[in-house]
Amino acid sequence: MHVVVVGQGYVGLPLAVYAAEAGHQVVAYDTDVSKIKQLSVGETYIDDIPPERIRRLVDDGSLHPTAEAQDIEPYEIAVIAVPTPLTDGVPDLSHVESAAVALAQALRPGAAVVLESTTYPGTTRNSVGALLQKHSGLCAGQDFHLGFSPERTDPGNPDWNLTNTPKIVAGIDRASLDALCTFYRTFVNRVVPVSGCEEAEYAKLLENTFRHVNIALINEMATLGHELGIDVWESMEAAATKPFGFMKFTPGPGVGGHCLPVDPQYLSWHSRRTLGRRSRFIELADEINADRPLHVVRRITQALNDRKKAVNGAGVLLLGLSYKKNIQDTRESPTVRVVRELVRLGADVRVADPHVPLDAEIPGIPTHQVKRVDCEPSTLAASDVTVLLTDHDRFDYADIATHSAYVLDCRRRLQTLEHVEYL
Ligand SMILES: NC(=O)c1ccc[n+]([C@@H]2O[C@H](COP(=O)([O-])OP(=O)(O)OC[C@H]3O[C@@H](n4cnc5c(N)ncnc54)[C@H](O)[C@@H]3O)[C@@H](O)[C@H]2O)c1
Repeated sequence: MHVVVVGQGYVGLPLAVYAAEAGHQVVAYDTDVSKIKQLSVGETYIDDIPPERIRRLVDDGSLHPTAEAQDIEPYEIAVIAVPTPLTDGVPDLSHVESAAVALAQALRPGAAVVLESTTYPGTTRNSVGALLQKHSGLCAGQDFHLGFSPERTDPGNPDWNLTNTPKIVAGIDRASLDALCTFYRTFVNRVVPVSGCEEAEYAKLLENTFRHVNIALINEMATLGHELGIDVWESMEAAATKPFGFMKFTPGPGVGGHCLPVDPQYLSWHSRRTLGRRSRFIELADEINADRPLHVVRRITQALNDRKKAVNGAGVLLLGLSYKKNIQDTRESPTVRVVRELVRLGADVRVADPHVPLDAEIPGIPTHQVKRVDCEPSTLAASDVTVLLTDHDRFDYADIATHSAYVLDCRRRLQTLEHVEYL
């Protein structure tokens, strides 16, 4: 099939690659010229997609990266995988809307358009569908197919990928559902058909809200346990032996990435706007998870105080800039908030992350405030406090344990030692 994938980020690029490998002709469209330049020469910017896979597809012509909307020719399937951020705390659909307008000019009878971006219920039908109709003169359902299929990508997860993760697919009608299921079945092992787009949109918000709320719960349990003098990690492992009715979540320095800090707020906003009702679980989870980086700073302050030192002037080495292990994505990373707060308090902050290039710009931290270093014995030994925020496999944990004066381990990666404390 002739396929267009709009947006070549964490969701769109893997999808374009899997679709091209399945034998489709894929136009990989993104407005970010630098990304398209990289793809065109077979380079990658996503850890899970190695450059060889891109190079092979670009060379044999099945993957055509472009930053020009005019290169979008009539297609059979178009997938929208663009960001759905919050702007001033409110859902911002401008990327989705401009993607729909770009696709409308090449929309022909019989084609299908599917939205993969996470959003509030009704977006597929009321925003994407309406714009496609307005700018193409065609009618959704009658002339073209339309649907929603949420992405479940888990960057850095070596076990679950696009092919072996079941994929929810919904259409505005039976024909749309059938057309989209046929497409996804060419590279996904198990497609889960859902009868309505709104139900599928809601399912994605449910998945992310479930994680957000449960992480908040375990974070709060961890804080309470610590203050009660209980080893919460041991309690957690013990509870996790229950074979039913319990699911293990681990405490940490906060949530990051494009999903958890953002998606539940789409639901919260939608419910306030449509029903005039607050979503109390989401608000509470936001509050608890957003406080975690400050909780880390409070624990650092406490540890320094126990050693008769002040934060002001202390050398603090933070390990991990990305929001989760083994990836380079720093969006909404809790480390950013920890850096800012420590800098405000006068600490001498250094950050090591083997996945994030030393010269990368980190949104939220002015370049002069982040001293980027490698995690080496001398750097560890020169710091008053080492804080393990992201437990990348590439860190040398023996070095960290041996050469640090004190470690605050936010991931329980190190063994119990006198100079190691867990968050
Ligand atoms: N990253 C994840 O783990 C993940 C998981 C599931 C769902 N999602 C959802 O998928 C969507 C995309 O997320 P992402 O992480 O891939 O974002 P991303 O920022 O990595 O990639 C989005 C890309 O879209 C491009 N873009 C923006 N507007 C465009 C336009 N009008 N036309 C063409 N390209 C455009 C951007 O330049 C960017 O390269 C979001 O709604 C997100 O919530 C993300």
